[in-house]
Amino acid sequence: MDSRILLVTGASSGIGAAICRRLAKPGVSILMHARGGQDGSKQALFAEVAEDVRNKGAIVETHLSDLSEKGAASLLVKKACECFGGLDQIVSNAGFAERSLLGVVDRNILDQSYQTMTGAFFDLATAAMGPLRQSHCGRVVAISSFVTHFFQADALFPTTAAAKSAMEALAKCLAVQLGPDGVTVNCVAPGYTRKDEGSHRAISQSTLNLAAEKAATKRIAEPDDIAALVEFLLSPDARQITGQTIRVDGGLHIT
Ligand SMILES: NC(=O)c1ccc[n+]([C@@H]2O[C@H](COP(=O)([O-])OP(=O)(O)OC[C@H]3O[C@@H](n4cnc5c(N)ncnc54)[C@H](OP(=O)(O)O)[C@@H]3O)[C@@H](O)[C@H]2O)c1
Repeated sequence: MDSRILLVTGASSGIGAAICRRLAKPGVSILMHARGGQDGSKQALFAEVAEDVRNKGAIVETHLSDLSEKGAASLLVKKACECFGGLDQIVSNAGFAERSLLGVVDRNILDQSYQTMTGAFFDLATAAMGPLRQSHCGRVVAISSFVTHFFQADALFPTTAAAKSAMEALAKCLAVQLGPDGVTVNCVAPGYTRKDEGSHRAISQSTLNLAAEKAATKRIAEPDDIAALVEFLLSPDARQITGQTIRVDGGLHIT
């Protein structure tokens, strides 16, 4: 397990960046993916995160692409295999939240949510089945969301919930298909989590701070709170945990 090859999508900021920083060490090779911002504005930030990860001893390749485009996710698997000679573990993290309600939200947003989250996960899984089956430490973790488990009038994200729910269903199917090969597949569903400066926001910082009151812990998560569980799910100790969606929401779902 000391030597493994990872692919992490959406690694320019927030949860994806925290996951890469946590996993970075000698022996680990990571293909870090991001879009770099819709207008390219996050490319410099992405380069900084990649440099941090390299400085911790990991071998890093980077790739910029828009996962809503057909073929973009499959290409990531191909690139990881070409750069590093295989692929052991995937963290499908790239995504975004949209708060517009049914009746207002445009159908295009639903399509874009499916393409970026569900579709990309489908393509990653399809392309990576061979390498994952060959791996000695095959793992897949998809970052879902509280929005698909928590439905209150002031916290609805219909299109995001639909896309993440479908992704969770695909993950469970994949867990059954790859289980006999020792590959585990799980989802992590964060609650409200701090956003990095300059990242896409579905809600303002003040609303996010108020949202902390909804959680039992009375705080929003740090990206590294989510990364800690992802690190464990990717470890050998988690080999018997599969087909799960595990919430890191400070008890939001029980309040
Ligand atoms: N923060 C929260 O409160 C929260 C709660 C529940 C679930 N989540 C989930 O956690 C994951 C990470 O979110 P975060 O909070 O860390 O947000 P973030 O800092 O905005 O990171 C999102 C990442 O996804 C990438 N991305 C977005 N749309 C993309 C597209 N079309 N193609 C390729 N990459 C794309 C972004 O790329 P660029 O920025 O480089 O363009 C960025 O690297 C997401 O799936 C999100 O739904 C977050």
